[in-house]
Amino acid sequence: MWPNDRFIKLCGIESPIIQAPMAGSAFSDMVVAVSQAGGLGSLACALLSVENARKELETIRRKTARPINANFFCHQPPQEDHVREINWRQCLDAYYIQLQVDSNTSLPNSARAPFGEKMCDLVTEFHPEVVSFHFGLPGKDLLLRIRKTGAKILSSATSVSEARWLEDQGCDAIIAQGFEAGGHRGMFHTEDVSTQVGTMALVPQVVDAVKVPVIAAGGIADGRGISAAFALGAAAVQIGTAYLHCPEAQISPLYRQTLKGTRDNETAITNVFTGRPARAIVNRFMREVGPISDVVPKFPLAAATLAPLRAKSEMAGSADFTPLWSGQSARLSRELPAAELTKQLAAEALNNLTLLQTKA
Ligand SMILES: Cc1cc2nc3c(=O)[nH]c(=O)nc-3n(C[C@H](O)[C@H](O)[C@H](O)COP(=O)(O)O)c2cc1C
Repeated sequence: MWPNDRFIKLCGIESPIIQAPMAGSAFSDMVVAVSQAGGLGSLACALLSVENARKELETIRRKTARPINANFFCHQPPQEDHVREINWRQCLDAYYIQLQVDSNTSLPNSARAPFGEKMCDLVTEFHPEVVSFHFGLPGKDLLLRIRKTGAKILSSATSVSEARWLEDQGCDAIIAQGFEAGGHRGMFHTEDVSTQVGTMALVPQVVDAVKVPVIAAGGIADGRGISAAFALGAAAVQIGTAYLHCPEAQISPLYRQTLKGTRDNETAITNVFTGRPARAIVNRFMREVGPISDVVPKFPLAAATLAPLRAKSEMAGSADFTPLWSGQSARLSRELPAAELTKQLAAEALNNLTLLQTKA
């Protein structure tokens, strides 16, 4: 039925639709719903403690026997840089005063640890059928441990060179993440966002460059986007923003409301929330401090100094300091339970593909 069945065969799923891992926004409910509906549900573990990741995986394994994906960040931990921290703090001082936040407020620990031994223990215990990474890949020993569990290994590429590198390291499939995508850019060969490539241009170039199946990501939110991705040579799609509208997404009412009204040109790539480029809905903090700042501390340290401002402003009903991650296709999304959305997307795409074949 699908013109390219390499990914569904690789992973043993019915529909080539991956619900994107979305750290902080999608948990076991979403994963179970999507996997039960025949897609591939993804648990983002980047912001979870090992204990919480374990609880989520236990819940998922209790509720579905279908394949799932566990996802991790594998960035280089940042070097401490006091000068940068001080500059960043100075940059935010005026906001601390304006929002009447005590400058001695203790800051949360924003150190998101990259994938390491303890998370790898969870992989070997729960053996997710798929393990995916963002920002490259972990070291060879960790990768070998994952491979021994039988899991298929995926990672995001934002350029042909990143895709080739991932294939050389043994990835079983590659997520081609176009510039339209919501959340963090998976880029790891460059820090230059100005040369990042859109989905339409990236997917066929990655398809031509590698032998493994390619998954298209970025700006895909309905059957038209999925069928277009297949026409470009993709074997699956990874969809994030469209799933944020589902009741299973654990996002604040403020975020949900803002997302609903977001137009095509109301998102931008910014580094001011975490120190790494990511696409979010433009808000006051992005407008005034970014969207790209040279002062911001390295990923993920920027978030800690910002946290008290974010908390205070959210308490007052404002998203001025909140990272509202979103791709460029927020407006194409619909509010449906995740299982229904998965089935509708698959049906729409198959219908489109059949029509295209008939007309050809
Ligand atoms: C709220 C949000 C959080 C995200 N968190 C992660 C993550 O934890 N790990 C990851 O690999 N990708 C993450 N991404 C990126 C997605 O994997 C994917 O590339 C992107 O959602 C595709 O573009 P779309 O949002 O236009 O569908 C996130 C995206 C969003 C919107």
